[in-house]
Amino acid sequence: MKGSYRALTALDLPVLECLHHESFPEAPWSARSFGELLALPGTGGLLAHAGLEPLGFLLWHRVTDEAEVLALCVRPAARRRAFARTLLRRAMTAFPKTEIRRVFLEVAEDNAAARALYKGLGFREIGRRRGYYRRPEGTKTDALLLEITLTDE
Ligand SMILES: CC(C)(COP(=O)(O)OP(=O)(O)OC[C@H]1O[C@@H](n2cnc3c(N)ncnc32)[C@H](O)[C@@H]1OP(=O)(O)O)[C@@H](O)C(=O)NCCC(=O)NCCS
Repeated sequence: MKGSYRALTALDLPVLECLHHESFPEAPWSARSFGELLALPGTGGLLAHAGLEPLGFLLWHRVTDEAEVLALCVRPAARRRAFARTLLRRAMTAFPKTEIRRVFLEVAEDNAAARALYKGLGFREIGRRRGYYRRPEGTKTDALLLEITLTDE
């Protein structure tokens, strides 16, 4: 499955809702929430797709010279084909040109797939929020705060 990449637009809101629901059924975000986020100055994103089929997306929010990753999801059927790595690499390659120098994000400590992805890209752990994520079964998981500093190279 070969992917293409393009900027997210307001026309993608229903697609974002579906993709997010597939990846986070316990806490899905609505199309309306995505619309409110995308309408904020500094919010942007990328969609990975194969023709008309959406595969995954990355959404970020910029404040001054920092960008926070708000959401990253790849459809279960399209995982382990480097779509998430490519979404992040494309964004991080473009960010220095817009003077974004630092990217940070939160990831659940028990999310081994995402942690391996971020580690492979060079993110480092800078903090922890204890019991931040509540699981449907009632347990809690820490959130790890990760960051990477970008250069022009
Ligand atoms: C995390 C997620 C975005 C990864 O998407 P993906 O497109 O499958 O990831 P990639 O194929 O780009 O993987 C890049 C690297 O990440 C690591 N990785 C990805 N999935 C992994 C898994 N299930 N187990 C271990 N390592 C994994 C590997 O190092 C992989 O490199 P490799 O395939 O060459 O070994 C995807 O699993 C997902 O959408 N999960 C649900 C939503 C989520 O957790 N989002 C992140 C919230 S912080």
